[in-house]
Amino acid sequence: MRIYDIITKKKQGISLSYEEIKFTIDGYMDGRIADYQMSALLMAICLKGMDESETNFLTECMLKSGETVDLSQFGELSIDKHSTGGVGDKTTLIVAPIVAALGCKVAKMSGRGLGFTGGTVDKLESLTGYISSQSADAFFTQVDKIGISVVGQSGNLAPADKKLYALRDVTATIDSIPLIASSIMSKKLASGAHNIVLDVKCGSGAFMKTVDSARELAKAMVKIGTGFGKRMRALVTDMDIPLGVAVGNRTEVWEAVQILSGKGEQRLTELCVSLATEIASLALNLDTGSAKAMVKNAISGGLALNKMKEWILAQGGDISYISEPSKLLESPYKKSFVAKSEGYISGIMADGVGRASMLLGAGRAQLGDKIDYTAGIIFKKGYGDYVHSGEEIATLQSATNSFDQCESELYKALTVSCEKPRAKKLIFDVI
Ligand code: URA
Repeated sequence: MRIYDIITKKKQGISLSYEEIKFTIDGYMDGRIADYQMSALLMAICLKGMDESETNFLTECMLKSGETVDLSQFGELSIDKHSTGGVGDKTTLIVAPIVAALGCKVAKMSGRGLGFTGGTVDKLESLTGYISSQSADAFFTQVDKIGISVVGQSGNLAPADKKLYALRDVTATIDSIPLIASSIMSKKLASGAHNIVLDVKCGSGAFMKTVDSARELAKAMVKIGTGFGKRMRALVTDMDIPLGVAVGNRTEVWEAVQILSGKGEQRLTELCVSLATEIASLALNLDTGSAKAMVKNAISGGLALNKMKEWILAQGGDISYISEPSKLLESPYKKSFVAKSEGYISGIMADGVGRASMLLGAGRAQLGDKIDYTAGIIFKKGYGDYVHSGEEIATLQSATNSFDQCESELYKALTVSCEKPRAKKLIFDVI
């Protein structure tokens, strides 16, 4: 077999066999296939696509390139959730303790963020003392005992995806549905959960810009997971405007505590309840009506918030942040971001808000950059609200007293108009 022939075949739009895909992934991992050859193949895949079998083969080869986590000791109760990412997305911090409180087993590996804000692990590490690396023994024991552990992603899960993703990132070959689906699913399958719920985002702050493309990606991932014997569900949800009122790291933990206390913003609450409902219904074999009632009770009865405390404590974090959430909003510097004119807020572009939060120090521009945990944005007004000139739209906070660039980015992201905008849909589809 020669990689040259495989590239030619894909360039002509012909499907690749399992043996050809395995030859390519194995060869790329052991250095027999060079970056320039892999780049050519990735571009051919972007332009010609891959059918269902090829996508499954690629997923399987990337999955088998590294370690896999065995969660079979938790029977059918193990769960995982994945969001394709967006601005203000703190759903894992909320959904994980809810479903753990209901008896699901959350043995979760999460990523660090590169971009707008930190990832879930960064947000958790913003709680002083939180330890995101555990031995396998400690990880399984904690999940067994309290139903939840969230640690950093091991580099040994699907290493072929890691190497390929880095190459895709610099060769304009990210935006291919089969490549994205196999990339995400190889890591999810390697993480071992029996039930997987995906939150596939669409809109300005997501890499899928339209509902149709997000739906296509969701269907592709559900198909892959089902084919590997997993119980799968995917929600297609909006990421045109930021999720909830907080963007940042500690600020997002603050909002998670608000939602778990039943005092959170309505859209984020609705999304978290829906995700937790889908997870509970899959893992506990419940109809969605009963699952939803249990999820709502776990929030209103305080079970989910208690589970969050138990979890953070088990991983060494300071739970006074959870008991006194106002501590999560402490910051050396704060500034009010105010409306320049009067009218309804008819647009808050999520990507612009993401860039603004990064300018405050909440995200990383490069791997290894240090995050300012106190940096973030708390919106006081949201999409559809009326604002008067000079009225506060958001509070900005940061460890450094420089807000100008962030403010100009936020003004660009904001549209204020005379007419009240139509309500935005949150959940487009459940697959
Ligand atoms: N996230 C992933 O893990 N992989 C992709 O290809 C895109 C987003």
